Amino acid sequence: MGPRFTHLIEGLPASVPFVGPETQERARSRPFAARLGANENVFGPSPRAIAAMQEAASGAWMYGDPENHDLRQALAAHHGILPENIVVGEGIDGLLGYLVRMLVAPGDAVVTSEGAYPTFNFHVAGFGGVLHKVPFRGDHEDPDALIARAAEVGAKLIYLANPDNPMGSWQDAETIQRMIEAVPEGALLVLDEAYVELAPQGTAPPLRVDDPRVIRMRTFSKGYGLAGARVGYAMAEAGLIRAFDKIRNHFGMSRISQAGALAALADQDWLRHVQAEVAGARTRIASIAAENGLTALPSATNFVAIDCGADGDLARRVLAELVARDIFVRMPFVSPQDRCIRVSAGRPDDLDAFARALPEALAAARK
Ligand SMILES: Cc1ncc(COP(=O)(O)O)c(C=O)c1O
Repeated sequence: MGPRFTHLIEGLPASVPFVGPETQERARSRPFAARLGANENVFGPSPRAIAAMQEAASGAWMYGDPENHDLRQALAAHHGILPENIVVGEGIDGLLGYLVRMLVAPGDAVVTSEGAYPTFNFHVAGFGGVLHKVPFRGDHEDPDALIARAAEVGAKLIYLANPDNPMGSWQDAETIQRMIEAVPEGALLVLDEAYVELAPQGTAPPLRVDDPRVIRMRTFSKGYGLAGARVGYAMAEAGLIRAFDKIRNHFGMSRISQAGALAALADQDWLRHVQAEVAGARTRIASIAAENGLTALPSATNFVAIDCGADGDLARRVLAELVARDIFVRMPFVSPQDRCIRVSAGRPDDLDAFARALPEALAAARK
């Protein structure tokens, strides 16, 4: 009796890998005072995007345009490429799932970094791929090691986020371009550029969408402040982009999300405003860390990793004590990155609350 799961699904853990702040709030029976754990953009979307979404709401009885035509046209103009080189989907997370589904059969090798963005790994496990992980070098992902391991194991996919989550570190465009040039035959580099709008100029190599060795993933969740609208896009060679049509959810985008993303893209002044706010928040987080004798790592994202000065056990206790004081933060999963907690760029009020809680949390954690 009952459903007959595939062997693959039966073999996967039943645990939920992503515990959201809402789940924690329900468990605590109390809301957080500052939501600084999910690298959301607390400065919000462009007011023009909000207006566009409000206007689109009355048309929500209609499915969204399955081709995402207008958004792809606008993105193509924005990046100086063709719409045939762009696929829009349900955030980078959704697009990563489609990409893995297209390329990874059970037993296929995939390479990523130990402690890198875990959603990619979740999809690889879900399609039966075999993950090979290389360590970070210092607090950076290591392009040379990723390429070397990919060549060794015959990987079909190589994942790198630039800038990186959870450390906020980044590689310059020349390093990434050298990595693209070194992608072994038969492999594809997934370059996750979720935070690129918040990174210094010179972080992203030029877009060469006829290059079959790389697919670039971008999102409206971070710089554009639309994480809850779930709009991401990938840019790559037209044949690879067309292949998404075989399996993607053609009605995955709502009209509201499409309208919001289109208006957000058109409001580059708002993006510049957000960039300035995020830069200010990064500086403030670094000062709060310094006031407490801790070191903030340089960041090219809307979050800052703060080195708690010892091992993962101490950082986990600091995190628990912050959560107990109503500050939602997260931290890296593996050593040695887990000596840090990770704090999203917040508004002044959010960071005031963090600044008040941190000294007490540290004292309690060190007891
Ligand atoms: C490196 C990285 N990639 C992708 C995402 C998710 O992006 P999206 O909201 O577009 O699914 C995140 C979100 O935290 C991220 O840190």
